[in-house]
Amino acid sequence: MKRVDDFRLRLGSHELVPIVTGGMGVDISTSALAVEAARLGGIGHISDAMIHTVTDREYHTHYVKDRLRQYKSNVGNLDKSVAQFDLGLLAEATKLYIGTTMEAKRGPGLIFVNCMEKLTMNAPRETLRVRLRSAMDAGIDGITLAAGLHLGSFALIQDHPRFRDVKLGIIVSSLRALQLFLKKNARSERLPDYVVVEGPLAGGHLGFGDDWAQYDLVSIFSEIRDWLRAEKLDIPLIPAGGIFTGSDAVNMLELGASAVQVATRFTVTRECGLPDEVKQKYFEATEELIEVNRISPTGYPMRMLRNCPAVDAGTRPNCEAFGYLLDATGHCTYAESYERERLRLGEGQKIKVHDKTCLCTQMRNYDCWTCGQLTWRLKETSRRGEDGKYQLLTVEHVFRDYQYSTDGKIELPQAD
Ligand SMILES: Cc1cc2nc3c(=O)[nH]c(=O)nc-3n(C[C@H](O)[C@H](O)[C@H](O)COP(=O)(O)O)c2cc1C
Repeated sequence: MKRVDDFRLRLGSHELVPIVTGGMGVDISTSALAVEAARLGGIGHISDAMIHTVTDREYHTHYVKDRLRQYKSNVGNLDKSVAQFDLGLLAEATKLYIGTTMEAKRGPGLIFVNCMEKLTMNAPRETLRVRLRSAMDAGIDGITLAAGLHLGSFALIQDHPRFRDVKLGIIVSSLRALQLFLKKNARSERLPDYVVVEGPLAGGHLGFGDDWAQYDLVSIFSEIRDWLRAEKLDIPLIPAGGIFTGSDAVNMLELGASAVQVATRFTVTRECGLPDEVKQKYFEATEELIEVNRISPTGYPMRMLRNCPAVDAGTRPNCEAFGYLLDATGHCTYAESYERERLRLGEGQKIKVHDKTCLCTQMRNYDCWTCGQLTWRLKETSRRGEDGKYQLLTVEHVFRDYQYSTDGKIELPQAD
């Protein structure tokens, strides 16, 4: 019976344990989580989502406060186009966060950053350019281009000195998306170093429509694998979404995957950035509480626990402080929904917005409990104390369980 440890991921000169911890914004996949995954010989992802908020919390900078002060006079205005991000400060925060993470890296693994294209930041192209280049300047091992098609992203960095050295990967949920990407990027004469194939059971935003349940990871993965073979393209494939045990991972590796990307199991580790009480909510989740809805202002379907505070909330938009989801014209669909409800209800009424959520504020407060479809199985992975609380795990425990387990078994932690 094979174990994940019988396989290795080869990326250039690196030989790695084929386990990748997925990017989870905002600061759910922390530096500490990624550093552990790398120490154990795999790949750990951090995320650059809401970078200023993250550095303010971790390194006591005050980017968010300063930004709010600068744009305070615009708070009542629905047009947020004046609330631009200072590209110099964006570069500074990115370098601080990624540079410090890379300094903490130990052991044979690698640390990648997850970059979501849909974090449009009031100037999609310019801000993405700075995010990618600053990550490269700060010594990141790899960049995974996520949430969006990223058709022009390679062009933003192809004159960077590390363009051919840093590992570059994309996340796709269909063969068509991959073909489109390869066609658009042909001029850069550089293939992605890996492709994450994300199926419909993944956490966070989904690359599917409302018919997501009609798709399955193995079929999409097999279609992409066969096409790459037919085209004689040797690009490592990394499936993701619903790979819950070491045996699920072995199954994918035997089908030709080079590694697996996993996230949900790590949301209940000590190193994960969610507050402890939220980790308990993840443990307690039932299948009925997990839904895919349309409340993300990005326009993508998103999976979350529907008992989270972000659902049906009426938070006043705070784009002057955050503003990560403002499109190229300074608009966010949540701000528009909020304004609609405000006008409908009149002054002094408690506002509730059903169709969208203020993703910036909710993610910043860990109130949007985005999750993978198999979150309801997390209770199988730990012990419950007499006080009703589940014991938190460590990244090392979960990582090793993926690496060594067989027969669909899940190793419980030593009792506290
Ligand atoms: C809580 C949570 C947050 C996530 N956030 C992001 C994100 O910010 N960007 C992204 O590309 N993927 C995100 N994902 C997807 C994961 O990186 C990963 O590909 C996927 O969830 C793996 O499936 P699994 O959770 O079933 O193991 C998130 C997943 C979870 C569980």
